[in-house]
Amino acid sequence: MQKIRWGILATGGIAGKLAQALADCDDAALVAVASRTQARADEFGDQWKIDRRYGSYEALAADPAVDVVYIATPHPFHYENMLLCLNAGKHVLCEKPLTLDAKQAQACINLARRKRLFLMEAVWTRFNPAIRQALQWAQAGAIGTVRLIKADFCINAPFNTTSRLYAPELGGGALLDLGIYPLTFATLFLGLPDSFTSTAHLNTITGVDELVAMTLNYNDGRLAQLAASSRVSLPIEAVIVGSEGSIKVHELFIRPDRLSLHKPGKPVEVHELPFRSNGYIHEVEEVHKCLRAGRLESEVMPLDETLALMKVMDVMRHSWGFKYPHELAGL
Ligand SMILES: NC(=O)c1ccc[n+]([C@@H]2O[C@H](COP(=O)([O-])OP(=O)(O)OC[C@H]3O[C@@H](n4cnc5c(N)ncnc54)[C@H](OP(=O)(O)O)[C@@H]3O)[C@@H](O)[C@H]2O)c1
Repeated sequence: MQKIRWGILATGGIAGKLAQALADCDDAALVAVASRTQARADEFGDQWKIDRRYGSYEALAADPAVDVVYIATPHPFHYENMLLCLNAGKHVLCEKPLTLDAKQAQACINLARRKRLFLMEAVWTRFNPAIRQALQWAQAGAIGTVRLIKADFCINAPFNTTSRLYAPELGGGALLDLGIYPLTFATLFLGLPDSFTSTAHLNTITGVDELVAMTLNYNDGRLAQLAASSRVSLPIEAVIVGSEGSIKVHELFIRPDRLSLHKPGKPVEVHELPFRSNGYIHEVEEVHKCLRAGRLESEVMPLDETLALMKVMDVMRHSWGFKYPHELAGL
């Protein structure tokens, strides 16, 4: 059987991580890479032994030797990069967040569906073996009825007006970069909320959100309490709390390898659940599974849920008075 042929679009930090996962995956061939400059494409190509190197994203999208493109640019470029690749007939795995807002996400999803191409937001956490185990325990009633999720993704990243985390023109802001993880974690266990509230502190220089607190509410009394920050750090952990116990997802809950099962009156059970390669291989395998089965989207990270969470994040941002430059320009 022919391997699935991948192209990587952009050569930054996360692109290298996916290149490693592809190298460790027997069913994947990393055949092409594109950068804004030929020199950088050649450098990345040398590092990962990739034959086809392009100095433009357009050239990668036009390469008939590529089945699926992984988009690894900063968030504001995901929209145009996805349109480029989908219009060229490529399946797409796009980094999180899928886009800057729900309007852009809807357009990309519509295009993928119309052209009958695979599209998925690269939320690697959902494919992590420990997360799958925690979900299986929760669904099997191991902790009774799940009532509360607590999850935080707070890091103290050096402030720099030009960095991806702080510059609005690069999609800066804690919610879209970090908050998406506790959100997607909570909805994995609880489903989409009936209502939600959030508050944020905006950076006084660049105006992006740097400290965010969120609560998801469910009409039957369930709750999720979540936080995200680029300015303060906390253990990157999560807890699933049920009526008869709880599951702690140890650091880093975005790619854990350990769970603790707490049941009243019983010793705590600690379970080691290692991920393979660098952890990104599991989302790669999901793409392969879907493509081989002729499925155009993942049931584990469905496009409708990606879209619903983009809408939640739009409402949150707008409630704080924070809009990205394209929104301020009315686009
Ligand atoms: N899943 C995860 O664990 C994870 C982790 C980190 C980041 N991410 C996501 O991955 C995306 C990229 O993050 P990253 O940390 O890899 O970013 P990065 O290191 O800054 O790399 C981004 C790359 O995008 C390309 N690019 C295109 N236009 C650009 C522009 N105007 N400014 C800067 N770079 C531009 C560049 O590649 P060329 O010069 O080669 O074109 C650059 O190297 C983000 O959406 C982020 O949310 C996901």
